[in-house]
Amino acid sequence: MDVIYDEHLVPNYVLPDPLTFANGAPVTTAEAWTARRREILALFEHHVYGVLPGKPERMDFEVTSVDKSALSGAATRKQVTAHFAGNDHTASMDILIYLPNDHPRPTPMFVGLNFMGNHTVHPDPGIALPTSWVPAFFPAAGIQNNRATAVQRGVNASHWAVERLLERGYGLATIYCGDLDPDFDDGFQNGVHALFPRDDSAGDAWATLGAWAWGLHRALDYFETDDDIDAGRVALIGHSRLGKAAVWAGATDPRFALVISNNSGCGGAALSRRRYGETVSIINSKFPHWFCTNFKRYNDNEAALPVDQHMLLALVAPRPLYVASAVEDRWSDPRGEFLSALHADPVYRLLGRDGLPAAHMPDLEQPLMGTIGYHIRTGKHDVTAYDWERYLDFADLHLQGA
Ligand code: GCU
Repeated sequence: MDVIYDEHLVPNYVLPDPLTFANGAPVTTAEAWTARRREILALFEHHVYGVLPGKPERMDFEVTSVDKSALSGAATRKQVTAHFAGNDHTASMDILIYLPNDHPRPTPMFVGLNFMGNHTVHPDPGIALPTSWVPAFFPAAGIQNNRATAVQRGVNASHWAVERLLERGYGLATIYCGDLDPDFDDGFQNGVHALFPRDDSAGDAWATLGAWAWGLHRALDYFETDDDIDAGRVALIGHSRLGKAAVWAGATDPRFALVISNNSGCGGAALSRRRYGETVSIINSKFPHWFCTNFKRYNDNEAALPVDQHMLLALVAPRPLYVASAVEDRWSDPRGEFLSALHADPVYRLLGRDGLPAAHMPDLEQPLMGTIGYHIRTGKHDVTAYDWERYLDFADLHLQGA
């Protein structure tokens, strides 16, 4: 079927109401929302992302290096390896952390997964190279046999405004998503899936987005042990497929104080029922390992889904949530991302928050900043300096009380 890029071709649809229980009863109080929230979470687990396990049998954190004068003295760079064991398997993830030296500790943080290795987020030569499988997204950048080399240092630096974060008083923590689960379909043998016995008899075993979200939960477990980090002020950010994982991680773990979706599109912030750009059936056929088995039932059958993605966003309530789109990123359905935020708004209002301060999609680069934030910027699918400035403004508003 042709991809829909024309608003007139978007089918008519009816969204499930986050504020109506499955039995038809209305949700009118914050207490009732707590029960409805559990119901919605279970629906996403069973039909979309699969069920996340908790902590593994064993987990310990090893601080492998600390440099108090990294980035010409602006930052303290810490590298921490989280070692996991369970089900007769082991796995590990490396957390790269920058903390601003010129601001008080404990530091409020941004945390997000990266696509190709911690060494790609900044040219800093002190960042350890990953030893796990890496994708050859930039073949010209010297990736050989899916192994990282020093040639890729900083190739994704434009996605990570490290110096700006530090200047504005925030730390950054990032983890290579492939430490948790390499991004290819291997039947869930590698990565952290092997730490737990797998039972997919109900079609709702966790898949790759789940493994990535799980790793973000474990990063927060580490932050809680580090006196330099303010674990109560952690903003979770993710771009694209890693934005899908970030929103799922934020929905399933209320310890994240703020959640940001950057161009997360289908299976992230965008409404599935609109079928604009990437659809459920396209994503499930191109990336069969991202979602749980049951999600395949909804290929070209979105109306049967008991949820849509506005309900995922609503699971973040009452915590601050920011959704960002890019006008040329039609594959991610910018309008569908906006509408999702808009339809999450009634839950924020029920919980006494101001929600999204607009009823219509704003013009380009006219950010909305309520408890739900939104912008659409010029340009393509990307994370840009413009996006980061808005996230920092939003974090100042909600995490610093400024
Ligand atoms: C593909 C995929 C998207 C995803 C994107 C990305 O385009 O279809 O769903 O968001 O890759 O992660 O960059």
